[in-house]
Amino acid sequence: MRAATTVQITFLTNGGKTVEAPPNSNLLRVSLREKGGIPFKCGGGLCGTCRCKVEAGIAHTDAVKAKERRHLTDEAIAEGYRMACQTFVNGDVSVSW
Ligand code: FES
Repeated sequence: MRAATTVQITFLTNGGKTVEAPPNSNLLRVSLREKGGIPFKCGGGLCGTCRCKVEAGIAHTDAVKAKERRHLTDEAIAEGYRMACQTFVNGDVSVSW
């Protein structure tokens, strides 16, 4: 298997809009750049606005940060919820919010 040179991010709540990004991209930054539509306010892990659900590809996201745990229960994390501004993706993901 060749290493991915781009990853695909699908914004399910935005009509399934799909964009490409470099590996290890920040999910909120890609959303901002490509008009993906994930809600946000602070961009810094404080407000909780960017809560979203990784419906597919949770294995392609990095480790949950302490800042995210202030907004997400263990159950939510187990269901695939993340804070977009704190999440980096290294493979294809589909996200809703
Ligand atoms: S935008 Fe405020 S926590 Fe992510």
